[in-house]
Amino acid sequence: MASLTAYLSGLAGDAFGALDLPRDLGLVSRSDRPDLGQFQCNGAMAAARIAKTNPRKIADQIVAALSENGCFSDVSIAGPGFINLSVTDEFLGRFLTSLAADDRLGVEAAPQKVLFDYGGPNIAKPMHVGHLRSTIIGDSLTRLFRFVGAETLSDVHMGDWGKPMGMLISALEAEQPDLPYFDASRSGSYPEESPVTLEDLERLYPVAAAACKADPVRDEAARLATVDLQSGRPGYRALWGHFLAVSRRAMEREFGALGVAFDLWKGESDVHDLIPGMIASLKKAGLARKDQGALIIDVAEPDDSHEIPPLILEKSDGGATYATTDLATILDRVETGAPDAIFYVVDQRQHMHFEQVFRAAKKGGLSGRAALEHIGFGTMNGADGKPFKTRAGGVMKLHDLIAMVREKASERLSQAGLATDFSQEERALIANQVGIGALKFADLNTHRLSDYIFDLDRFMRFEGKTGPYLQYAAVRIKSILRKAVEEDADIPDAALSITSDVERALGLALSAFPEAMEAALERRAPNLICDHVYALAQAYSRFYAEHHILSEKDEALRGSRLGLCRAALTQLVAALGLLGIDVPKRM
Ligand code: ARG
Repeated sequence: MASLTAYLSGLAGDAFGALDLPRDLGLVSRSDRPDLGQFQCNGAMAAARIAKTNPRKIADQIVAALSENGCFSDVSIAGPGFINLSVTDEFLGRFLTSLAADDRLGVEAAPQKVLFDYGGPNIAKPMHVGHLRSTIIGDSLTRLFRFVGAETLSDVHMGDWGKPMGMLISALEAEQPDLPYFDASRSGSYPEESPVTLEDLERLYPVAAAACKADPVRDEAARLATVDLQSGRPGYRALWGHFLAVSRRAMEREFGALGVAFDLWKGESDVHDLIPGMIASLKKAGLARKDQGALIIDVAEPDDSHEIPPLILEKSDGGATYATTDLATILDRVETGAPDAIFYVVDQRQHMHFEQVFRAAKKGGLSGRAALEHIGFGTMNGADGKPFKTRAGGVMKLHDLIAMVREKASERLSQAGLATDFSQEERALIANQVGIGALKFADLNTHRLSDYIFDLDRFMRFEGKTGPYLQYAAVRIKSILRKAVEEDADIPDAALSITSDVERALGLALSAFPEAMEAALERRAPNLICDHVYALAQAYSRFYAEHHILSEKDEALRGSRLGLCRAALTQLVAALGLLGIDVPKRM
């Protein structure tokens, strides 16, 4: 079904069309001046330029045509020719009734096959807050695309093949040279059990990084170990396999705690075997050329406004780069899944990298019909405005952050006197839902390209534009509906009617759901979902403050008001669900 503004745009478009003017001049949007009308159409200004006449004259004709339509309670002109529109309460009630009955809550279907690349944790380096935004935004967008009927695939795309692997291998060799993995002459198999734990890896990586920085000999050893690993040295491959397995368990734990699941657990290493063939064909097509020992692809275009350096396909030591694996991954994805689009939800600071990779992929014909799109985001900062750190100044691990958030949520629930007499288990479940909900909402509420400041106290408030406030708003509606069911055994599927100002305001807020979801989808902007849920919760709360619901004596009115409650709850749960936020059963 069409959204309300799309429907009204159609009516206004017809009116412009009847004057032999372009139909798209009839674009209707929600009004910036709700005191003058619920909706507005500014097409008369552009129409006047086309028809070389006075905008007011055109607006008069449009208003006359629209006034014929019974769905409007008011159509009027303001200023030089702005058209203000308001719909009748009957019309709004009917629209809401059909919205409530629609499977997709009125949102237009957009079937397509899309692959989402997000998360992107690196082996050996603990997952940190930089991976958090990617995960939260990527998960939300994946849910949104799925909601509109897209076939989605999510791929975690682990960083498991670059120099950090060689750094770890050589650092472990420096510490424990007698491990069988380092014996180049060994033949046969290697131990099943991992020689390292997650703690070992987390300790080892900073040690390795410091050693490489301080000592060129160690740095060279790490580089060589990377080349050997990539070219298949058995002991290194076996050791790397252990690193991968140990890290992956931790990643699954972290993503699980966030309620995020991936369809594919692939990594950079998975495309290793595709690289030689890809390079050969890029060479054959005359796209790759030697430059100072390295193999590069020029991607600059004459009309570029800023310099785009060439993509390095192969370093002078023959090693693959981050760009090489990303190119081969495109090849793999296009061959195995044939998606319509591949979306990369990755830090905006990698924008140049993706620009280079996408250009090279298109030049080399690797991306087929798939559109390639980088969906960037800004950083989560500490109070000092720099990327968020621990108190000690180190990188905050996702695991610790999640524990901190849960604890804070539990504290807040106690302070607010919520969930106090529930079982230990249920309280823990709710604290988790509220903590993760607060974290996700705060992240998604900021436009993805903006940075934001991590402020748990603010995120975790039960009032204002926060996850907990919205979860609580939904829980309260659940409880009203539960009571209604207890009293009546059933809530009738009443037609929704608008009988007061606050009901009209709630109805208008509800009617905006499809528009908000469509805009969020189109602009890859979950913050627009946040705006919708918050506006809806506020409109609901005014409605609730002003009207009797359960105690309403008029049966039809009670039915309609319960229906409005149910529609609000359905939208809150659905929209929060698209943000990856669960609504507790009760609080
Ligand atoms: N592992 C990378 C990082 O931590 C992110 C990977 C993003 N995805 C990609 N296809 N390059 O920065």
